[in-house]
Amino acid sequence: MTTAQMDKYSEIYKEQVDILEERFNKLLVNEEPASLYDPCKYIITSGGKRLRPYMVLLSSKAAGGNFEDAYNAAVAVELLHNFTLVHDDIMDKADKRRGRETVHIKFGLNPAILAGDNLVAVAYRNLLKDCRINTAEIMDSFTTGLIEVCEGQSYDTDFETQENVTIDQYKLMIQKKTAAMVEMCCAVGGYLANADEKIIKALKTFGLNLGMAFQIQDDLLDILADEAKFGKVVGGDLVEGKKTYIFLKALEFAEGDDKKLLLEVVKNKGIDKSMVPMYRNLYIKLGVIEDARSLMNDYNDIALKALDVLPDTEAKENLIWLANMLIKRSK
Ligand code: IPE
Ligand code: IPE
Ligand code: MG
Ligand code: MG
Ligand code: MG
Repeated sequence: MTTAQMDKYSEIYKEQVDILEERFNKLLVNEEPASLYDPCKYIITSGGKRLRPYMVLLSSKAAGGNFEDAYNAAVAVELLHNFTLVHDDIMDKADKRRGRETVHIKFGLNPAILAGDNLVAVAYRNLLKDCRINTAEIMDSFTTGLIEVCEGQSYDTDFETQENVTIDQYKLMIQKKTAAMVEMCCAVGGYLANADEKIIKALKTFGLNLGMAFQIQDDLLDILADEAKFGKVVGGDLVEGKKTYIFLKALEFAEGDDKKLLLEVVKNKGIDKSMVPMYRNLYIKLGVIEDARSLMNDYNDIALKALDVLPDTEAKENLIWLANMLIKRSK
């Protein structure tokens, strides 16, 4: 892809993010009570990459549809995503997201739980507005995405206290907690465009594998990012004793004192934040950062390959641009 093309796709992304932001700013403004809607508005207007709604729009267009008929569905997937974030931050004891205090820190635990619940309902209401065709498929796909996030988040939490987690278990966990939602976004886009099964299948394969790559990059950023840019606390996964691919690979390769240090994380179900830089250096020394990057690139390659089935259009090129941008992102 030439630099001019990359600039063009980056421009289209910005344009669409602006349109989505306007919708999020207008959503829920007249609703009461404030105790419920303030936390909802706080999270949905806090920025973020808006990757999932953009995937709905692009998938729909790449499958022969258009942006205009997909905006409500796009808003819906972002609302659902924001619900997962609010509850994830409670579960992960995270204080910061998108550069600000998390919802439960700012508003309290109960308002955060309820705001999350309400976001799911508002998400469904918005999704229905775009269901002119394939309603059962869209609803089923959206619901499956939601169920899989819950299953994945359960595995994620189980693994914090589970001593032996395999790479395959890790992969299943991220497939459910993250990739399933990205897969769903692409499927919904395809259904909105009334695409045939072959195209839907290709879009789903693209989304699923992109989602896997996306979570591996998120795990990498969790240890390597610049906190100010990342908007989340760096090292949070180690503090919480998360079984990431990086951690599992390190455990596999380490010997002697290095191994002992890693087993400490398992035994104590996490570490103190002050120890994060030491573990970062250990990861670098063991070469597992490179391993994770390589696995991420493999998933990205599978994702891109799946798009071969789609007709060559600007929207398809844009999906390719997006996938390549996401594995290079810094937040
Ligand atoms: C964070 O998602 C949760 C993960 C699945 C890693 P994003 O990285 O897309 O978060 P925002 O929406 O851009 O803030
Ligand atoms: C994402 O996993 C899981 C979700 C379903 C939100 P993380 O727990 O790594 O997400 P971040 O890093 O907090 O955004
Ligand atoms: Mg989590
Ligand atoms: Mg988290
Ligand atoms: Mg993370």
